[in-house]
Amino acid sequence: MSHKPVEYTEYLQLDKILNAQSLESDKAGAHAHDEMLFIIIHQAYELWFKQVHFEVDSALQVMGKPEVNDNSPELQTVVHRLDRVVTILKVLVHQIDILETMTPLDFHEFRDFLRPASGFQSWQFKMLEAKLGLKFDNRYGKEYYTSMLKPQYVDLVKDVESQKSLLEMLDDWLARMPFFSDDNLWKSYQPASQNDSTHHVFWNDYLNAYSKTLVEGEQHNKEIFASIFLGEGKSEHTSLSNKAMRNALFISLYRGYPLMHLPFQLMQHLLDIDEQMATWRFRHINMVHRMIGSRVGTGGSSGKEYLQGALNKHYIFKDFAVLSSFLIQRNKLPHLSSELNHKLGFM
Ligand code: HEM
Repeated sequence: MSHKPVEYTEYLQLDKILNAQSLESDKAGAHAHDEMLFIIIHQAYELWFKQVHFEVDSALQVMGKPEVNDNSPELQTVVHRLDRVVTILKVLVHQIDILETMTPLDFHEFRDFLRPASGFQSWQFKMLEAKLGLKFDNRYGKEYYTSMLKPQYVDLVKDVESQKSLLEMLDDWLARMPFFSDDNLWKSYQPASQNDSTHHVFWNDYLNAYSKTLVEGEQHNKEIFASIFLGEGKSEHTSLSNKAMRNALFISLYRGYPLMHLPFQLMQHLLDIDEQMATWRFRHINMVHRMIGSRVGTGGSSGKEYLQGALNKHYIFKDFAVLSSFLIQRNKLPHLSSELNHKLGFM
């Protein structure tokens, strides 16, 4: 196979990248030294956002399939790539350290030249939120969305919003898991308590064991448990269906079984993604406060107040964090049937 020799500068198209920093302060004849850092740091963010999209897109491709084998190389790849996303996000959090070497006064030397540009116009960031599962209706400060983004970028984000998000795919994937839809898996199960309810024998036992752990102020958790995990619909407390939540809790409880490893890791990575994005938002808010105090953003939002609202509201995979409220001690877990032991990989 003939292969044209590649040269480093050409391969990386450095002539484009290294010539893509033009300082607004220079154009105004008022050179501000720190504007170079400001541009480069934003460009570095956008490049990493591109990589994150690349990884998330490949995860969507697998998770969107009607059948995903839960012990397959495909799922392994999704878990591996989402782990990479988490690692990138950690770097993105730390990049703030570099920008914070700029003092507020240094920033004020060029800030006015940037108006009305703002990080809010990062359509890659908005698209990422949407791809992961943030719907327009759940956005904090929806009014800024169309007023601050150019119409072509609004269209891009809307297009992603109209497609199935990773969260929706997870809902389907978790709901499809066969743990409670196949009675054959429970043939030899020994119930620990009498079942006078319509719940599956396992959940009847689990709810009994869980109820015993509740202190006085937590008694209402029983009703919340029922609304989130039992029945066939979807609770007002979660985005995921009851079926999906049941299976997610089951995976968390029995994650030691070989077949549960990958699904459990996947859920952990999603929680990590939420945590890193929230950590980034938190660090960004502190930086904003440090740089501009309580002044409005260059994009025209209320600044710190808007960002705090987005931080509080834009957790995407919070349903997985909800599971922790409903765990019990490992030694109190119901013993699974031999059929399930076999299916999950221990026999
Ligand atoms: C001196 C440093 C910075 C300041 C003072 C600042 C300020 C702000 C403010 C006030 C907003 C709210 C929207 C507005 O009214 O403009 C915002 C949003 C945003 N900024 Fe920054 N920013 C800084 C650095 C960065 C960096 C380095 C990034 C990296 C990409 C970034 C990304 C974003 C994003 C993605 C949003 C939208 C967040 C959301 O909608 O939840 N910002 N920024």
